[in-house]
Amino acid sequence: MRTSVLGSVCALLLLLREPVCRGDEVTSSTVNPCCYFPCQHLGVCVRYSEDKYECDCTRTGYYGENCTVPEFWTRARQFLKPRPDVVHYILTHFQWLWDIINCTFLRDVLMRLVLTVRSNLIPHPPTYNSKYGYLSWESYYNLSYYTRVLPPVPEDCPTPMGVKGKAGLPDPELLVERLLKRRTFRPDPQGTNLMFAFFAQHFTHQFFKTYNRMGLGYTKALAHGVDAGHIYGDNLKRQLNLRLLKNGKLKYQLINGEMYPPTVANAAVKMSYPPGTPKENQLAIGQEVFGLLPGLGLYATLWLREHNRVCDILKAEHPTWDDEQLFQTTRLIIIGETIRIVIEDYVQHLSGYLLRLKFDPTLLFNSQFQYGNRIALEFSQLYHWHPLMPDSFFINGDELAYTQFIFNTSVLTHYGVEKLVDAFTRQAAGQIGGGYNINAVVTKVAVGTIKESRQLRLQPFNEYRKRFNLEPYTSFRQFTDNEEIARELEEFYGDIDALEFYPGLMLEKTRAGAIFGESMVEMGAPFSLKGLLGNPICSPEYWKPSTFGGKVGFDIVNTASLKKLVCLNTRTCPHVAFNVPAKEKSQPGNDGSKVQTDELCVAMTTLDDKILGEKLQYYYSSSEDEGSDNEDEDGEGKTIRDASVNEPEIDYSADGTAVNTGPKGVINDWRKYKQLEVEQKQEQKNEMERLIKKLSMTCRSDLDLEKDKEKQKELQEKLKGKMTMQEYNMLQEGQDDEDFLQHYRMQRIEEMRRQLCRGKRFEQVHELTSGEDFLEALDKEDKSTLVMIHIYEPEVPGCEAMRGSLMCLAQEYPLVKFCSVRSSAISTSALFRDSALPALLVYKGGDLIGNFVRLTDQLGEDFFAVDVEALLQEYGLLPEKPPIVTKTVRNGAIIQTTVSDEDSDLDID
Ligand SMILES: *[C@@H]1O[C@H](CO)[C@@H](O)[C@H](O)[C@H]1NC(C)=O
Ligand SMILES: *[C@@H]1O[C@H](CO)[C@@H](O)[C@H](O)[C@H]1NC(C)=O
Ligand SMILES: *[C@@H]1O[C@H](CO)[C@@H](O)[C@H](O)[C@H]1NC(C)=O
Ligand SMILES: *[C@@H]1O[C@H](CO)[C@@H](O)[C@H](O)[C@H]1NC(C)=O
Repeated sequence: MRTSVLGSVCALLLLLREPVCRGDEVTSSTVNPCCYFPCQHLGVCVRYSEDKYECDCTRTGYYGENCTVPEFWTRARQFLKPRPDVVHYILTHFQWLWDIINCTFLRDVLMRLVLTVRSNLIPHPPTYNSKYGYLSWESYYNLSYYTRVLPPVPEDCPTPMGVKGKAGLPDPELLVERLLKRRTFRPDPQGTNLMFAFFAQHFTHQFFKTYNRMGLGYTKALAHGVDAGHIYGDNLKRQLNLRLLKNGKLKYQLINGEMYPPTVANAAVKMSYPPGTPKENQLAIGQEVFGLLPGLGLYATLWLREHNRVCDILKAEHPTWDDEQLFQTTRLIIIGETIRIVIEDYVQHLSGYLLRLKFDPTLLFNSQFQYGNRIALEFSQLYHWHPLMPDSFFINGDELAYTQFIFNTSVLTHYGVEKLVDAFTRQAAGQIGGGYNINAVVTKVAVGTIKESRQLRLQPFNEYRKRFNLEPYTSFRQFTDNEEIARELEEFYGDIDALEFYPGLMLEKTRAGAIFGESMVEMGAPFSLKGLLGNPICSPEYWKPSTFGGKVGFDIVNTASLKKLVCLNTRTCPHVAFNVPAKEKSQPGNDGSKVQTDELCVAMTTLDDKILGEKLQYYYSSSEDEGSDNEDEDGEGKTIRDASVNEPEIDYSADGTAVNTGPKGVINDWRKYKQLEVEQKQEQKNEMERLIKKLSMTCRSDLDLEKDKEKQKELQEKLKGKMTMQEYNMLQEGQDDEDFLQHYRMQRIEEMRRQLCRGKRFEQVHELTSGEDFLEALDKEDKSTLVMIHIYEPEVPGCEAMRGSLMCLAQEYPLVKFCSVRSSAISTSALFRDSALPALLVYKGGDLIGNFVRLTDQLGEDFFAVDVEALLQEYGLLPEKPPIVTKTVRNGAIIQTTVSDEDSDLDID
């Protein structure tokens, strides 16, 4: 049935094909000079008489007949500018360097650089479209067109690709069959999984909605960016049909007590299902084609739940708001969450960068950045990532073939969200680049893509390379290391300059260990980042709490993550990520396994916090403290810190030279930064002492008060961290930095090894029933074991949420011993019982190293494991999570399985 649908699409494409006048009209004397693509460096080719042209080199930084002669400053800049592959290499290597940068202001500097350099490659306002190869009001104004970065190949050229290559292009079916079709499934070396694949598909189909019925190169997604139209529909009528029109919510249905999208019987919107699918089985979703794959239904369900969850939160904040305002504000929050997840989870994973990416619109407030975006045809072509799809789907022990998966309305509700998330997280997706990796079920889509690009006369791959500041390839053998591909392409195209855009992106040699080659990244990232940051919510006018319903809503946007999206909307929090869980690997001998370095960053951040002391009120918030202050103080603390971070930044980033600073320079910068922090230390220390005195904890009431006090003293020393203090001093005294890093790493590695290898596994929450129990729980364990004790009373708000959260965490952190104890069982003071619950004490080697009281002040009364985890992580109180081991052995067999997905972008109704 899919075949027939696709068949009709192809027929449609053929019908729409304009009768172009090739070959026959062209005589040798009248070759359009622009067919040579003579203008370099973004110069614009303008034809004058039959064989005369001019290049408009204005503001390209070049001059001369073909814009090839650099102006002085261009030459200087060229000289300084690192090549993209060098930058990429740096961004994906030198873990230790990034470990430091991740934690400092340099992260902001680099992030800003990434954003501006990338988005400057995308013209704004938009330029050409498929009808207009020159600037025109129509192409600016008519939003139904995709824009184009490069104008079409002129109609009257000697060959389809201009002047290079053969008179005819290779048969697309043959091309796909010979070079793109999968032979055996090749998993992505970056570990990308199906959770990522479906996210990509779900996310991008809010702005890729090719509208072939209007003509080629048109789109139905008129917002041209992240508008969440895939959740709310691309027009008002559809939106209203999907809305509950109460409390801002969307319609839903409950199945086994869980929220799912409503059926079409309930929300009358048109969905693309095979004819004859009963209305009761069709899910009503914003994007009409999302019934196609259960993976899309999964994300639709998650976002539906998230929308309605946020509505509840906003409603509680603003009891006076009507349905419309609740809906509209929630939509902005959902858009904000989406952008954050895309940058910090999705692009982060895809890039493989060690620089921790950050969604922070304020980074661009002082640069010339145009808000607004127009989706480009090239972007839509480039995003056909069907090699991601496996050969079949493994869910909960079942293997589903495509025929059982596609349009199967029962998969989602049969397994439920948790099981699908778990399954898709564990199943590897295919490598996108490198060829031979598209499942036969979806090769048709690749064929369609190539056909579309020909009808729209996309310029050659090498012209796009130049457009994005990349060197054009000089031969097929330079283009790919694969001899077979090089040979076939040579035969197909005859000339590297005639290679087409899409095959070029898919067949280019991949970067070492990466999902695709240089061009996909260097061309895709600019489109992507421009689209994300060009969103109106990122503009200075919008980017403030009130836009999102106040601090609470703004916080939701600012802390969104894939994990939260899933875990706040499921009962049990399944394992979720964009990469397959790492296998239990033996630690490599070289200096940077991820585990160790993550730990290092946590340690560094904690070191920062401790020295800064800005958050000590959390460690020692006594029950007498005004709980409500905490959050505000935190907010302030952050501002203070940002301010201090910004200060040195002026020194280093004004001319952008920070980027060129070597490792030594980075360490120097860091040291200066530390110095600033230290100045605050003394002040904070006094405050800390005051707080410790105030501490009214009596849970270890069997120890006498004197001893307790001493303990606290010691503890205070501990808190400052003997080791970290030492290291800090080393740093201050200007000891050799290399030594410092070396020393640091060794210590961390040692600690990690102890943790991971010898650690006893607990995996559940132990209930303690008495003071004796309590002490024993502490004393019994190895010195390196973390013990966390939750003090509760069942009826105190938040204690139940805490109990649930710890049960989850106990699973996730099997090496940490989690205990809970009723406060009455350990005879705490009444004051403590009344005002400090739920409390969490963290011990190591018998010493209290973390002490959280009245957690509801920080977490609210309804929170989840992720929140507690985030809080603990913030203080560096959690070890690295051990890699999750799949219980069922999923080796070859599972890896052999990838899914293919139909391209929902092809209009199928
Ligand atoms: C400009 O480009 C045209 C066409 O490629 C070429 O014939 C001509 O020699 C070039 N002119 C210069 C000065 O390089
Ligand atoms: C955009 O162009 C298409 C095709 O020319 C036309 O049908 C449509 O009405 C135009 N839209 C606007 C808003 O002008
Ligand atoms: C749909 O999925 C279920 C599993 O949820 C499977 O048992 C069934 O065979 C599938 N239906 C079809 C028509 O393939
Ligand atoms: C820095 O960020 C990258 C990307 O998230 C990560 O891979 C690397 O481990 C981070 N380093 C630390 C220490 O967090």
